[in-house]
Amino acid sequence: MKILVLNGPNLNLLGARQPDVYGTTTLPELDGLCRDWGAAVEAVVECRQSNHEGDLIAWIQEAEREGAVGIVLNAGGYTHTSVALRDAVASVPTPVIEVHLSNVHARESFRSTSLLAPVCAGTVSGLGPLGYRAAIEALARA
Ligand code: DQA
Repeated sequence: MKILVLNGPNLNLLGARQPDVYGTTTLPELDGLCRDWGAAVEAVVECRQSNHEGDLIAWIQEAEREGAVGIVLNAGGYTHTSVALRDAVASVPTPVIEVHLSNVHARESFRSTSLLAPVCAGTVSGLGPLGYRAAIEALARA
């Protein structure tokens, strides 16, 4: 069983970027944790990151063809702005779980609006890296 973990813009800077908000775990460390959490529930987790909206859209569109049973998506700032990313999620049968490291509802008001949430299977926000674990396990057990 394959699960994709897609991280969007600026998440390549994890560990160095606003550690008070996003923690000190780097993206390679987070990717390793996700692979381990997947293996524990017999899923092969493949992690990708891009700062480009079109890459995220292409990966969402291709997920079913490449045999992924679900997608964990931290779309970063695109969460709050991207109609195109929302349309991609809504256009595919693959379930998508939206994840945020920080609690987006406890921050600036613009972060409380997610264009993605209404078309996602679920949302996890504010649990740090463990939010990815919850999403991976939920997809693996669905
Ligand atoms: C984020 C929250 C977003 O508002 C922000 O733009 C990010 C990261 C998070 O993981 O908490 O880039 O998605």
